[in-house]
Amino acid sequence: MAEAEVDDDVLGKDPTVDLLERRVAELLGKDAALFFPSGTQANQTAMLLHTSPGTEAVCDSESHVFNYEVADAAWLAGVQLNPVESDRGRLTAADVARAIRPGDRHHSRTSLVWIENTHNMHGGVVVPLTTMQSVREMARERELPVHLDGARLWNASAASGIPLSDFAACADTVMVCFSKGLGCPIGSLLAGPQELIDAAWSVRKRLGGGMRQVGILAAAGLWSLDHILPRLADDHARAARLAEGCRLIDGLRPIEPDSNIVMIDITIPGVDAAELARGLEEQGVLLLPAGPARVRAVTHFDVDDEGILKAIEGFRSSLS
Ligand SMILES: Cc1ncc(COP(=O)(O)O)c(C=O)c1O
Repeated sequence: MAEAEVDDDVLGKDPTVDLLERRVAELLGKDAALFFPSGTQANQTAMLLHTSPGTEAVCDSESHVFNYEVADAAWLAGVQLNPVESDRGRLTAADVARAIRPGDRHHSRTSLVWIENTHNMHGGVVVPLTTMQSVREMARERELPVHLDGARLWNASAASGIPLSDFAACADTVMVCFSKGLGCPIGSLLAGPQELIDAAWSVRKRLGGGMRQVGILAAAGLWSLDHILPRLADDHARAARLAEGCRLIDGLRPIEPDSNIVMIDITIPGVDAAELARGLEEQGVLLLPAGPARVRAVTHFDVDDEGILKAIEGFRSSLS
């Protein structure tokens, strides 16, 4: 990062940002990509590009956009989200079709289909490519654009062996984050057709996301593509080991992870997830409560084998 060649990216002149944008566009098989400070801003730029006020976007009921973006679809884009329940975030064509409005005088018009892969709050679930393809096919028949919230698409690809570009082909625009499993302090990209990414420039500027000598941050992204992306399978193996260890502890019921997120249910009545997380934090194990009786653990390159053992031991001693 310290050695990054930089220039003014608000003028489109930062060579390191340019390189990252070109590499990500190529990996995703899209014409172009644009660097953003956050996944939320890149997601909302897509929302603004695809929709118009008073219309609806169909998404999964546990999706990040529905639950954790502070109702920004409504606040910024004037869009109502239509959340549908699915089998652990694996939104099918039938799920989406049920939510599409009939296009009469009494309903808002459906303007966008939103997919999340991997699915964060369902525990890093990989939405199968075939499921995404059938959603894409159905959306195309209805002339609806598709946006893919791929904050952790890297993990979906690493877990399934399916190229990123195959998943990305199921959507018009794709958001990817460098600030999750790829370990960067900041940075997300929105990729898509050239004319949409050209339009995204102005939206990003309006949202305050134009940044000047930001190649220092893009350099972290480039490094992570070469050094962290190739080793994501290690995180997945460690997540599986963590789940295995927790399964042997009375009072815990981990959900078998697809990738690097382990949702662990607490089955002892009266043991509160927030309290358990606080207790583990005191032992140096960081988790997030994901409900009154559920904690969420994430593996990444800072968590080694010893860290997994420490986490399992932390659970055991906290619950004994
Ligand atoms: C699936 C998903 N999408 C989008 C985001 C938003 O990313 P950011 O925190 O960079 O705004 C997150 C953050 O956790 C996420 O999990």
